[in-house]
Amino acid sequence: MCGGGNVYMDRQQALDLLKEHISNQNLIRHNMAVGFIMQALAKKFGESQDDWELAGMLHDLDWEKTKDDFSNHTKVTKEILEKTDLKPEIINAIYVHNWVHKIPPETLLEKTLYCVEELSGIITAVALIQPDKKLASVSVDSVLKKFKSKSFAAGVNREIIMLCKEYISLELPELVAIALGAMTAHAEEIGL
Ligand SMILES: [Fe+2]
Repeated sequence: MCGGGNVYMDRQQALDLLKEHISNQNLIRHNMAVGFIMQALAKKFGESQDDWELAGMLHDLDWEKTKDDFSNHTKVTKEILEKTDLKPEIINAIYVHNWVHKIPPETLLEKTLYCVEELSGIITAVALIQPDKKLASVSVDSVLKKFKSKSFAAGVNREIIMLCKEYISLELPELVAIALGAMTAHAEEIGL
């Protein structure tokens, strides 16, 4: 029996939602990876690790539904999540992370999700060019080197990631170290 009061969405419910709305396994793993990165950053900043992980886990929930119209990306997610028990501040962080909406992120959660979300893409791409395709073989330096090479994982928006200094007072090497550490600690779950 539940003791009453607000019962918010938990991690398993978030995973179920991912599976309900996303068929591509790599996309599910991308969402999970960003969840682990957000969780690690919440720990560093003394914020709620559970809340921040959920923000990362669900940030691209509507990707398959909006892939032909980027201006709808996160709008559809917002509609889906407003029917759930997810905290409104998490829904809003997810909503504003699509820079196309031109809503400046304000809270620490919003700012963090905004600038780190794309980082998992480049870390994953660097893992996939290792001989064993494993995160365990990836170094912070190798990610930083590929970050500078604009033709590598060209779809990753470097300018957004570089906002980390202004938004969350982290220099890129430190942010990469935290993100790589978080992803490596959960390598099996994200298939790397
Ligand atoms: Fe994403």
